[in-house]
Amino acid sequence: MSAPAISTLPDGIDLADPDSYVDRLPLEWFRRLREEAPVVWHPEPSPNKGFWAVTRYDDLTAVHMDWATYSSEVGAVALEELDQEQLDVRRSMLETDPPRHTAMRKVCSKRFSARGVRVYEDWIREVARGVLDRALAPDEPFDFVSEISRELPIRFLCSIFTVPQDDAPQLIAWGDKMIANQDPELSAAVVDKVDTEAYRLLPFRSPIAHDVFAYADRQRDERIEQPSDDVIQALVTAQSEGLLDDRDYHNYFSLLMIAGNETTRHTISAGMLALLERPDQLRLLQQEPERIPVAVEEVLRWATPVLHFRRTATRDTELRGQSIREGDKVVTWYISANHDPDVFEDPDTFDVTRAPNDHVTFGPGGPHFCLGAHLARLETRVLFQELLPRLASIEPAGQVERIRSNFVNGIKRMPVRITTR
Ligand code: HEM
Repeated sequence: MSAPAISTLPDGIDLADPDSYVDRLPLEWFRRLREEAPVVWHPEPSPNKGFWAVTRYDDLTAVHMDWATYSSEVGAVALEELDQEQLDVRRSMLETDPPRHTAMRKVCSKRFSARGVRVYEDWIREVARGVLDRALAPDEPFDFVSEISRELPIRFLCSIFTVPQDDAPQLIAWGDKMIANQDPELSAAVVDKVDTEAYRLLPFRSPIAHDVFAYADRQRDERIEQPSDDVIQALVTAQSEGLLDDRDYHNYFSLLMIAGNETTRHTISAGMLALLERPDQLRLLQQEPERIPVAVEEVLRWATPVLHFRRTATRDTELRGQSIREGDKVVTWYISANHDPDVFEDPDTFDVTRAPNDHVTFGPGGPHFCLGAHLARLETRVLFQELLPRLASIEPAGQVERIRSNFVNGIKRMPVRITTR
């Protein structure tokens, strides 16, 4: 494909409106953009000023690799435009450029490496079995999201943080309210509907952050009294060595809790829905479970729970013939890159045997490649390894409902009827 000379946003496309994602994922918009306007200026409602929408795989990759031109730190990584005070107070590793970013990431990168997460496999399997035992007990319709997908990731996180499993329901509720801040069913502080000015200095502009910070403080106090060998301890040690201040500690803790919760949940739900709709592929994985690790990559591509992240240009530059000015927001759409036919043959087909599968669900690489990628892969694999052999049948038992968000691609309700073997 060659780039068109003039790039204007095709009529009828609105990637910024959270309502655009409620009824369906607008894959046809992204196809049009990749073909007609792969790097295009996209207006936004005030007070935001608009952004460049980047929809092709190779452009997204170029932006993420060139962190000096496309900064995570100068203007943060979400669509929301922050003033300097907000930026300073809310900054986590995600909104930091190297070299500071490199030092922050090192605090727990070993614990999230492939080898680091392998030690959790038995633990995770045990948690998965417990949740499945409870959810699959009655042969009655139930909501797959609330009983299975929603339960698992935070319980896994409790194991890794070594906090009590009894805290899981509270952490899940906090996580939901913070990240789903565009969905009135999940959060009272819906950012584009009510006045959230009072929360402007909190992560996700959410009042729930106060509760999460207080919880993080209690965890720190416990570890100062009685050191432990876990991720929170790594943060506490980094703070005692002066690498993180109080605010960094809070933001780091919240980032891990939030980033590892919803994303994995939506991956599990999207994977189950895709298999439920394609009984032949479900059967293939049940008959040949050794295919599950490859299938997990396709589930991740299909799910793409994070729709986009944003960078900010640090200088005037050019991308696919478009003139980007210093300070412009540049928004890279993972969901579109994961459906780019230049990289994925037949991209709108779910194929559990797809290989290679170089999806960008965790980012394309570069400094901010998802810290939890190995953990998320492990959790998703273990869940399907435990779940699929138990399924004699699975069918829909009601309407699938999607989250109202231009950032999170997720299913909030998925009633199913399951019979077990
Ligand atoms: C399927 C599940 C997940 C998805 C789809 C996902 C997606 C992403 C994406 C797209 C990024 C930004 C990549 C970039 O800018 O290039 C990211 C960063 C990050 N993720 Fe994940 N994530 C998942 C699970 C997790 C888990 C389980 C954790 C940890 C508990 C986690 C922790 C993080 C952190 C800390 C960052 C920031 C890394 C940095 O700035 O260096 N993620 N994730």
